[in-house]
Order: sequence, then structure tokens, then C-alpha cells
Amino acid sequence: MSTTLKLHPSHSDLESIMVSEASIKRRVKRLGAEIAETYGDEEVTVVSIINGAILFTADLLRFVPNPVRLDCIRISSYGNDTKSIGKPKMVHSLTLDVTNRHVLLIDDILDTGKTLALVTQTILKLNPASVKTCVLLDKKGRREVPFNADFVGFDIPDKFVVGYGLDFAERYRNLPCIGVLKPELQNPPEWA
Ligand code: IMP
Ligand code: MG
Repeated sequence: MSTTLKLHPSHSDLESIMVSEASIKRRVKRLGAEIAETYGDEEVTVVSIINGAILFTADLLRFVPNPVRLDCIRISSYGNDTKSIGKPKMVHSLTLDVTNRHVLLIDDILDTGKTLALVTQTILKLNPASVKTCVLLDKKGRREVPFNADFVGFDIPDKFVVGYGLDFAERYRNLPCIGVLKPELQNPPEWA
């Protein structure tokens, strides 16, 4: 078997790399330790917002030694564009009971704050023991609804990014790093 490192083909669609694969790995490990420290020996009910948080959740949970229950919810807020289409909607809800549970919500990125505000409000109505949020990326400058995450991987500037779960029209989620898409590729694509 060849040991030559092949660059991911989608790399050539990036204008720049914002967070490298190595930085993500280091930070995700550290975040896992921060979460473990916060919850002590408690069990955590992790709610991952798919599809975007899939890769982050899978890697992060390997570094959380607590007993964990895992659920996923699906929210739709973007079409095939780099701009939010407005109000997020929950299109697939929780399957686990979260009453009296410590809920940790995981998302890929905190942008306008609308998604996490909606999901947090929805979960709070179910009387959990606590709700905390963890995001890999935080675009603080873009907030439309006041919202602070409890655990943040990286603060990033207001640029549309793809990779490590984040998509543009469902593409690029499998890139191992986080990068800025070339501007000429950010127009609504013909192949969407
Ligand atoms: P919010 O509701 O505006 O905070 O947006 C959260 C959701 O928007 C995230 O879960 C992402 O799916 C999506 N999103 C926001 N910014 C980006 C980006 O730069 N690239 C890809 N998706 C993004
Ligand atoms: Mg998302």
C-alpha cells in the first residue's frame, strides 16, 4: 500500500484554510476534557444537530469519558445558498426522554443564534435537569438573537466556511479541515 499523502480533491475549491485538521484534533480533545470536567461523574444526554454536527460529535464523544446517551435532531435553516433562509424549523425531533437529564446540545457553528435559541427553548420545555451547548465554531459578529455557547472550539470571523461537517449545498462535509470556499463557487450552483 502506498504511504503517499493525497490531498483531498475538494481542497482545490478552497480560497484558504481557516482551521487546519491538526488544530481541530487538538481542540476537540481539549473540549472533551472541558466537558468531562464540567459534568464530573454525571451522565450526559447528548443531542447532536445533524447533519452539520455529525463529524464533530463523533470525534468529540471519543474524548468524553462520562456515561452518554446520544440523540440527534434535524433542523432546516439553509437552502442551497450561503445565506440563512430565515426561521429555522425542527424537521426531526428528539426520540429520547430528556426530563431530569443533563442535556448537552452540539452544533457545528453558532451564527445568527436562531437555531440554538430555538432548540434550547424547545428542550427547556421538557424539564431537563440542565441544558448546555457546545459548538465547534462561533461567528460572534453575526448574532441576531443573543446567545452564548458554554463550550466553543474556535471563534471565527464572518466568512462562509465549509468542511468537517459544514456544507455548501450538501457538499464538502467530508473535508478534514475548515476552509473558505472560493467566491466563484459560492453562487447558487447548477448542480444543487
Ligand atoms: P444560526 O441559526 O444562524 O446560528 O445557524 C446555524 C446553522 O447555520 C449551522 O448549524 C449551520 O448549519 C449553518 N451555518 C451557519 N454558518 C455557516 C457557514 O459558514 N457554513 C456552513 N453552514 C453554516
Ligand atoms: Mg447545521
